[in-house]
Order: sequence, then C-alpha cells, then structure tokens
Amino acid sequence: MNDDLPIIEPFRIKTVEPIRMTTREERERCIRAAGWNLFRLHARDVLIDLLTDSGTGAMSAEQWAALVRADESYAGALSYDRFEASVREVFGLDHVIPTHQGRAAEHLLFHQLVGPGDVVLSNTHFDTTRANVEDRGATAVDLPCPEGADTGALFPFKGNVDLVALERRLEEDAGRVALVVMTLTNNAGGGQPVSLANLAAVRRLCDRSGVPLVIDACRFAENAWLMKQREPGLAGVSVDSVVRRIFAYADACTMSAKKDGLANIGGFLACRDETLAARLRDRLVVTEGFPTYGGMSGRDLEAVARGLREVLDEDYLRYRHASIAYVCERLAARGVPVLVPPGGHAIFLDAGRFLPHLSWRRYPGQALAVELYLEGGIRACEIGSLMMAGRDPHTGREVPAKHELVRLAIPRRTYTQSHMDFLIEIVSRVWRRREEIEGMAIESAPEVLRHFGARLLRVPAAEPQSV
Ligand code: F0G
Repeated sequence: MNDDLPIIEPFRIKTVEPIRMTTREERERCIRAAGWNLFRLHARDVLIDLLTDSGTGAMSAEQWAALVRADESYAGALSYDRFEASVREVFGLDHVIPTHQGRAAEHLLFHQLVGPGDVVLSNTHFDTTRANVEDRGATAVDLPCPEGADTGALFPFKGNVDLVALERRLEEDAGRVALVVMTLTNNAGGGQPVSLANLAAVRRLCDRSGVPLVIDACRFAENAWLMKQREPGLAGVSVDSVVRRIFAYADACTMSAKKDGLANIGGFLACRDETLAARLRDRLVVTEGFPTYGGMSGRDLEAVARGLREVLDEDYLRYRHASIAYVCERLAARGVPVLVPPGGHAIFLDAGRFLPHLSWRRYPGQALAVELYLEGGIRACEIGSLMMAGRDPHTGREVPAKHELVRLAIPRRTYTQSHMDFLIEIVSRVWRRREEIEGMAIESAPEVLRHFGARLLRVPAAEPQSV
C-alpha cells in the first residue's frame, strides 16, 4: 500500500463495547477517592485505558470461533496439540510448557536454573522477572546499552544490551552467572527493540562462557517488525522468518501471551533441552496444572494458538507501529518531550522534561498521569520514581529512578485512529498548561510494589526547605 495514505485499522469491528463519557467534576471526585492513584480507579470511570497493553487487546472472529471448538479434556486435549504446534512452528523450540501467564513461566524456569548467590544478566529485567530472580536469592543486573540513557537520541535499537559490560560481567562473575535474559522488546526501557546483531553477539558471549540464553518473548512480533524496518539486510525478509532467526539464538524463552499472543490470558515457556523440559513438567503439575493445559483452559489454549499466528500478519504490524509512531511524531512536533524513536507497544512521555519544575520527590510522572486523566479521562502508567525508586545500599535513603516516564500503552486492535487523535489533543492541552501542574507526595504506601496501592496527595511544586 502507498505510504502516503492515512493509516487505517486492517480490520472492521463486529462487536462493540461502549465507553462512558465523564465530566471533569466526576473525574476530580473519582481520582480524589482513589487517593490520586490511577491503579485504584474503577475502569468504568476511564474513557481511554492505556494503563497496559497486557491482556487488554481484542480477539479476532477466528479466535472467538476457536473458543467454541476448544477441547476441555484434562489430559491430551486437542486444543493443547494445536497450541503446541503453533508455538513450535512460530518459535522453532521443541518443548512447550503452558502456564497461566508470563510470570508463572519465569517462576518455573528460574526455580530450575537459578539459585542463591547467582547472578542473572539482562538488557533490562521487567519487574516480575527481577522479582522472580530475587525470589531465588539471586541478583538481577541490568546492562542496557548507553544509547538508551538519552530519551531524545535517535538510535534504532535502544533495547540492546551493552556488549562490553556484558562481556566484563561474564568474566568477573564467572561461575555465578546462571542466565542471560534478553527482553524483547525492552519494556521498562521504553518498548525499544533489540537488534539481531546484538542477539547474535550475546549468543557468542554465552557460548564462550557456557551460560544459557533465555529470551523474554512477550513482544516478539513487535521486535521482529522493528528489526525488519531498521536493521540492514532484513527489509526483504518475512516477519515469521525474522522470528525464527531470533529464537535460533535462544536456549529457552518465557512468554506472556497477554501481549503478542493476542489473548487476554495465557503464557508458556519453551526450550530445547529435553531433560530440562521433563523437570519443568514435574514442577508444572505441582504449581500450574497437568502438562497439556498448565494454567490455561482449552479455550485459552485455542486463543493463543491462533493469536501467535495472527500477530505475524504484516498488515497488522505495519498499522500497529504506524499508529504508535503517528502519536509519537505529532506530539514531538508540538514540542512535547517523548521518548524517541517510537517503540513497539507504547508512547512514553518524558515527565522529567515535561515538568522540570517538579523534582523527582514530587513524582512528576504521577503528576502528569493524573493530569491526563483529569483533562480527558485517559489512564496512563507512571514508570518513574513512584514505581522504580531504589535504595542506596549504604545510607538506606531512597534514590530516584533512571527516568521519570509516563507510559501510554496501546492495547492491541482495541482503539481506533480517532482515539489516537483525541489522545494527542489531550496531551497537548496538558502540555500548554504544564507550568501550573502541582506535585505529588505519598500519604501511605505498601512495602512491596508500592505504586499499586499507594495513596497520594497533591502538594505545591516547591519543596519545604530542609533544616
Ligand atoms: N516480561 C515483560 C517484558 C512484561 O512486560 C511482562 C508484563 C511480563 C514479563 C510478565 O507477564 O503479566 O503475563 O505475568 N508486563 C505487563 C505490562 C504487566 O503492563 O507491561 P505477565
């Protein structure tokens, strides 16, 4: 198709779900009652929900049809055969272990391969991956490439691992490195892709050190599409072949089918080693379920089996990326600080640069996310110091996150281009009155994963002078 034509959704809509319009006064009441925390809102009070792209996509008519055909037998279900065949065909990994979602696959795999005192190296661990590494008494180390540190730098593969740092850590921690995990795309780093060249180099380093390479495959199709667009020599290669090339480098992968599985729930892990697979299946029966359904129903297995094939449709991937790039480029043209180049599943606003009058202790990402809700009922997710602040190991004091970001994650096949235009307008309106925006402070928060349950307060931008 001609690239000058407007973007259209490569589907038509058969079932609709109304969304509720609210007034600014209603939204004020709702967010106040939710303790200024968007995770605590009722979904019915949200107009456009961009909190996550996980499990929030729309299924196709063929997926719905497959649900009716599903075989719910406890053992040996036909739906499992179809699921297994689809995973093998798409990823080229032989042994397939179904789980109810991505973190269950991480839990199972790390239970076998990671032990106390071990180190796991990654381009960037997603937070559940990190939690599962730490749950084993091991240390999760992120080694993102230096180009990723500047949200405004136009490097095509900001999801890459820093190869020099990886090589050094593999040598320094020789004997302690249990795994290298490559997250595709790099969600916490802005949905940025990893290049095939970077993966090939990681494979060589892993071979030299005898360390297994695991791919966190949640957004594998989006990563493959961006490789095809941006990496020399791949333009003429089909996306399914790019996917096969990616996974040819892996010993195993973990997958949340809630993303590029185009399903509302589900996941799996897949590996090459038969002995490992047998151990994983023994454990699967204890924690998830029988090996031919894991944590899923026959219906879920069918939805994922089809979703994994549908996601490789190049018209779909072209539209998905064009739609995200459209928002990103329009906002950048209006001066709004966005993370560039556009990533695979979301638009990331750089709240640190959007609200420079708020220090990290005033949680600029949260302040901005709240304003987007008040302005237009849009629910986004803060990925900044509210979610990711660390602790100084020596003083115990809180230290800021690397970036103060707001993620506008786009659910798959769910919203239309006019929703994207509405989003651009709402962000622009908030941008025009950015100087008036107040900060946030924490009133109360749970110890673990505090951003989910915290109650916040609105506070003036200026911090009290410390004495
Ligand atoms: N890995 C990555 C890169 C993820 O983004 C997620 C989930 C997981 C693993 C865990 O998968 O939710 O099925 O257990 N990310 C969601 C998000 C929650 O909003 O980005 P899960």
